Parts: sequence; C-alpha cells; structure tokens
Amino acid sequence: TPSVREIFDSMAYGPAPESNAEVLAWLSKHKSFGHWIDGAFTKPGQTFETRNPATAKPLALVTQGSAADVDAAVKAARRAQGKWGKLPGHARAKYLYALARLVQKHARLFAVLESMDNGKPIRESRDIDIPLVARHFYYHAGLAQLIDDELPGQTALGVCGAVIPWNFPLLMLAWKVAPALAAGNTVVLKPAEYTPLTALLFAEISREAGLPKGVLNIVTGDGDTGAALVNHADVNKIAFTGSTAVGRKIRMATAGSGKALTLELGGKSPYIVFEDADIDSAIEGLVDAIWFNQGQVCCAGSRLLVQEGIADRFYEKLKRRMDGLRMGDPLDKCIDVGAIVDPVQLATIRGLVDSNTEGETYHAACDVPEGCYYPPTLITGLSAASTLMQEEIFGPVLVGMTFRTPAEAVELANNTRYGLAATIWSENVNLALDVAPKIKAGVVWVNATNLFDAAAGFGGVRESGFGREGGWEGLMAYLKPIRVSKALAQVKPLAAPAVIEASGIDRTAKLFIAGKQARPDGGYSLPIWSPKGKLLGHAGLGNRKDIRNAVEAAHAAKGWAKTTAHARAQILYYIAENLSARAGEFAGRLRDLTGKSGEAEVEATIARLFTYAAWADKFDGAVKSVPLRGVALAMNEPCGVIGALCPDDAPLLGLISVMAPAIAMGNTCVLIPSEPFPLAATDFYQVLETSDLPAGVVNIVTGSHAELAKPLAGHLDVDAVWSFSSTPLSALIEKEAAGNIKRTWVNNGQARDWLAASDSHAFLRAATEVKTIWVPYGE
Ligand code: NAI
Repeated sequence: TPSVREIFDSMAYGPAPESNAEVLAWLSKHKSFGHWIDGAFTKPGQTFETRNPATAKPLALVTQGSAADVDAAVKAARRAQGKWGKLPGHARAKYLYALARLVQKHARLFAVLESMDNGKPIRESRDIDIPLVARHFYYHAGLAQLIDDELPGQTALGVCGAVIPWNFPLLMLAWKVAPALAAGNTVVLKPAEYTPLTALLFAEISREAGLPKGVLNIVTGDGDTGAALVNHADVNKIAFTGSTAVGRKIRMATAGSGKALTLELGGKSPYIVFEDADIDSAIEGLVDAIWFNQGQVCCAGSRLLVQEGIADRFYEKLKRRMDGLRMGDPLDKCIDVGAIVDPVQLATIRGLVDSNTEGETYHAACDVPEGCYYPPTLITGLSAASTLMQEEIFGPVLVGMTFRTPAEAVELANNTRYGLAATIWSENVNLALDVAPKIKAGVVWVNATNLFDAAAGFGGVRESGFGREGGWEGLMAYLKPIRVSKALAQVKPLAAPAVIEASGIDRTAKLFIAGKQARPDGGYSLPIWSPKGKLLGHAGLGNRKDIRNAVEAAHAAKGWAKTTAHARAQILYYIAENLSARAGEFAGRLRDLTGKSGEAEVEATIARLFTYAAWADKFDGAVKSVPLRGVALAMNEPCGVIGALCPDDAPLLGLISVMAPAIAMGNTCVLIPSEPFPLAATDFYQVLETSDLPAGVVNIVTGSHAELAKPLAGHLDVDAVWSFSSTPLSALIEKEAAGNIKRTWVNNGQARDWLAASDSHAFLRAATEVKTIWVPYGE
C-alpha cells in the first residue's frame, strides 16, 4: 500500500468498488429468463447470453422472442387496454407514482445491474440514469393526473410497441413506458439484445406496484424480434430509439399501416466554443458531452467547433484533461470512462478511427484496461466533409475543427444530415441566443451540455428522426382525437360529355411558382368539366420538374420564417379580405365545379384564414421548470418546407385549411390542390398576388395526385409532407418520405369534415417543431 505522502504526491484514487452482491443474488434466482407477458415470466425459450462487457462474463440467459411470443404479448396488451384506457387519469397516476417510488426504493439494484449489463460507470447509472428514470415516472404521474382536465377530446392510441437501444436501457424504457401508460395505452417493449436485464427487473418490480397484468409486456430478442413487433397488425404505434438505418427500415415497414410512429435516431451534434467562452467550463462540458457513457450517446457533442483564436490553447487543455480521465471497472465509483457495450461496437469504433487517414489523432494517455475498452480520443484537422466529421462514431471519439466567425460556426454546425442536439459556449448572451435559433436541432444547450429532464421535450429534426419525448409535447404522441372517422371515397374528375359543344375562349390555368404564374414544364393541361358537361377551363398538368421548381422556390423563400408573427397574421387577414371581396365569384366557381352551392365553403374559408391569422402570434412555446440551474424554453419553430396534397372534396376550403396553418407558423409550402376541382385553387392565385405574400412562400402545382405524390414526398429539400388526398397514397408517401426521414401526416383513407371542425391545434402542431433551448437563468 502506498504511503500517505505517496498518495498526496500522485493524488491517485484507490479502488472504490460498488458491491454487486444484490445483483448476483437476483441473477442466480433467475439464471434463464423468459419474457414478461400478461403479468408473469413465460418459460424460457431459445436463449442467448447477455454478458458484462467489462469482464466478458455471461450474466444470464434471455429468450430470443419469436413472432408467436410477440403475438402473445400484443394480445395480452390488447386485452388489458380497454380497462386501462378507461381508468380515470387519477387511477393511472397512482400506478405511475408507485412505479416511481419503487424505482427509487430499488435504485441501487437497478444502477448496479445497469452498469454490469451495459458497462457504464456506476457514477453515471447511480447519479444520472436511475434518478432520471424515477423523475420520468413522477412527472408522468402528474400528466396522467391532469390529462382528463387538460386534454378533453383526446384518447389513447391503443397498444404501443417500443423498440429501444442499449445505451440507456432503463432510461429509454422510462421514456417510452411512462407517457404511453399515462395516456392510457398498454405497451409491448423490446429491449436491446445487449442490455435486456433492467427491463426484466423493472417488469418484475411492476408487480409490486400492482400494475394490472398485460399493461406492460417485455419481449426480449434481437432485431428480428423488433421487426416482428413493428410488423404486428394489431399494434397502433411504434416508438423507436436507435440507429438511423433501422429507423428508416421501420418507417418503410410501417408506411401506410396507419400506425403512429416516433423515431429518435442518431446524431453528430455540434459543440460550439466561441472565443469568449469560459474555457474551463467548456472543457468540463466536453467530458460530459463525449466521454459520458463512453460517447455512446445519440446526442453526444461529438463534433467540436472551436473559434480559431483559442483553438490551440483549447486543444492543449483538452488533451491534458483527457489524460486525467480514469478508465476501468464500471463498478468502481471513481471511474470516469467504463467499458464499450460489446466487442462488436468496439470493432465498429476502431474500424472507423483506423480507416481515417486525415488530421491528427490523439489518444488520451490514461491507462486503458484490457478488454472491451476504447481510450478517449480527439481527432483534429479534418475537413468538413471527412467521413469522421459526418458519420456517427458512437464511441468516445471527438472530432474537432475550427471556425472564424459566428456565421461560419452556424454553417459548419448545420453541415450534417442530422439534427438532434447542439451546444453553444459563450459568455455573451447576445451571441449565444443569436446562434441558438439558427442551429438545425431539436435540443440546444447554452453553456451546459447533455442536460435532460422529463419536463423538457427531447428529439430531433432531419435524419435524427421526428417526435418529441418528455413534456406535454411528448404526451401528445401517445394520444389521438376522439372522432368517429369514416372512409374517404375517391373523388374522381368529372368525365367529358358525350357531345362536346363549342365553348367560348379557351382558358388554361397555369401553375403558381415563385410568385409567378408558370406554364407546366410538360406543356400539357387537362380539361375540367362541370357536372352538366360544360367545359370550365383547363388546368396545367404538373410533373416532377415542376415539383422541383416549386420546392426550390419554397426554399428560396425561407426568410418568411424570420418575419414577425404579427406580419404573418396581417398577410393572412389581407388574403381573407381580398377573398371576401370576391366571395360571390368564388362561390359561383365552386358551384360550377361541384354542382353544389359554394357559399358556405367560401364563408368557412374566410373564417379559417381568420383563425390562423389569430393563431400566428398565439401558438406560444413554453418555459419548462426543470430541476437544474436554468430553464428550458420550448420554442415552436417552423418545419421548413411543407409539401401537401390538398383535399379533393373541399377544393377551396381544403387548400386554405392546409396553407394557412403552414404559413402562419412561418413555413413555406408546395401545395397540390384538389385533383378533380383544381380551378378554385388557380383562381386563388390572383388573391395571393394581391395580398403582399412574398414570392415563393406558397407554390401551387396542379395535376395528378398519384404522379406528383412521389416526387414531392421523396424530395430531399421537403421537410414535412401531408396528404389529405382521396387517392389512396398514404403508403407511397410514407415510403418515399423514409429517404430523409421527413415528417409525414397522411389520412390513411379516412375522411375529415372540412366544413365542421378546424382542428387547429393538430394543424399547428404538424406545422411546427419544438426546439428545446436550455438557458442559464437565476442562481
Ligand atoms: P440498432 O438501431 O440496430 O438497434 C436498436 C434497437 O432496434 C435494438 O433493440 C434492436 O434489436 C432493434 N432492431 C434492429 N433491427 C431492427 C428491425 N429491423 N426492426 C425493428 N427493430 C430492430 O442499433 P445497434 O445495432 O445496437 O447499434 C448500431 C449503431 O446504431 C451504433 O453504432 C450507433 O451508431 C447507432 N445507435 C444509435 C442510438 C441512438 O440512441 N441514437 C442507440 C443505439 C445505437
């Protein structure tokens, strides 16, 4: 043993191992696990080992779930859902509260088991993972308590399937299970194959909470088990966290099924350090950003962008800090960096770093234990396009480059296909809060990093997925409006009469792109007949080139997002006023097109414009009370470019019901109007032209929905796609949207009464992304 003097000199820590006795006792009671279905463990089936990555020793055997196992779990969840969903919110709140209490009561067992199964330092599982799990259940007990009063008219989706990764095994379970149960759904959850144990322990403990059987079911297994759950016909929603590649597969697999979907995928989150930052804090932040959980964090600050003037000093300090990190046995309480989850993941990390030939690679000079460990690593001097600057490494590897100006920092930060999180360090509040809204990400931390809380929404944009977890916005992803929906019959264009009579002057309506009327690229148009067989005019037949032009125009008009909400409201009122001045003419046009009186539709359209003009400056964000220094702002930002197939059955009102919320929230849009009755939309160009709307904010391409849906939904510069078309295109649109994981909102063949409810909250939510910005506030 070293002398006191030697200890003082080296300042080295002695080992401080956490006891694993309680975990070993629990494991030896089970040894081999079945699934947790209908409130009990099933008999183990075909099993595989789950190992401790720090020791390579097996911990237990778990069952590879078959399609039949998944089916049994879904059936149990379905049987339980009716009663569970009808409980008063208070009753569900009591169960969630009991679960929170039990997580706290068994916190040590959970923390040790998590560290053994995953390899993460006990300091993290004990101080971060498990407390956040308890907090999540407490918070959602509160949402369940308030749901009946606060969200009348909403109901549970039904049975939710959850597929989760291995990096935060129990925390990801909490993120899926707590909101699902609070909203009245039942759950079938598949944990990751590397880390199934805390989920099984949680299931066993849920019995102590008296959770009714079937409300929570756990089926273990690999990706095939996950796929069986995703493909099960009686599942109403899939909530997934994991890689972008698998997220894309799930988007394809669920396309057109009517299943609700949220995806929380990968990232390559920028960590921006301005020269006026508190450097020591920014260095400490980096330890939490990229060496927390061995960098196996979807929102890891893995891309360091540091301002040129301080870069050399910053890198030097950083290397010194890296050298001081302690790697080793995850159960040692003094350990900073633990084991990589599995040798497969270690090989991936190594492969990515070793294949890089650019820049300089620095491995921390700390002791690296034998086995499944990778040293903290910094790679500098890469170019923005380098593989390691673009690809998620999902390990303790930081890549860094420099920038000169704030504008360049923003450009580099956004130079990624992902958009999960970002960190900004600057002592200048003006600079930090000027940059925050410009970053394409779902979460932004100012002078802090990797902060999480149940009250604050978490989730990404772009290829980091869609949907938020946490807060009221997260709860909404587990609810749907109570509405009896009817099937939507296809509305076909009216056929030409047997005998075509000579009509007056031929009128061919063009497309509306970049504020101008444009001839369709193909040069074709379609005759539009009235029910009485009268030729009403021609409508341009748009093609994929026209869609591309329209998207380009919509992109160029993105400055619209920066106009004030007041200005957007004024323009919507002005459109309403100009439409109102021509109400009679539009009502006549609608009558000619559909054979039905158009007056009510025109009146409703004007009212709808007023509704969204009113909302433009009232769909507010929120300030979340988080139990950390500071507050979390939930800002409603526009999605970007929204492409929409408008309803066939309400040619004018449908178009406006889609356009108005989109532009009120600062989006630009490409609209494909009613296919059978497009002339109401083409007449509307003139209203737009006289209403001060900047060119490109609204673009309209008439034509065949079946043909235009594909290029619109597949376009990489479209951020969200909606369809209310009566042509059955939901599956095609959701498949095409998988390319860049864009958000979709499709009708799945269900009708909507456009005249009756405006359902404005649903439209406003679809037209916005919640960006959570954590800012220091108060002491
Ligand atoms: P993964 O995305 O393959 O696994 C996540 C979950 O999905 C697991 O439960 C897995 O069994 C399941 N799964 C796999 N294929 C499926 C399918 N076709 N249908 C349904 N479920 C399926 O992630 P993996 O293989 O564990 O890690 C690979 C890479 O993914 C990592 O190196 C990292 O880059 C990334 N990743 C990102 C995470 C995040 O939080 N964003 C979490 C885990 C991994």
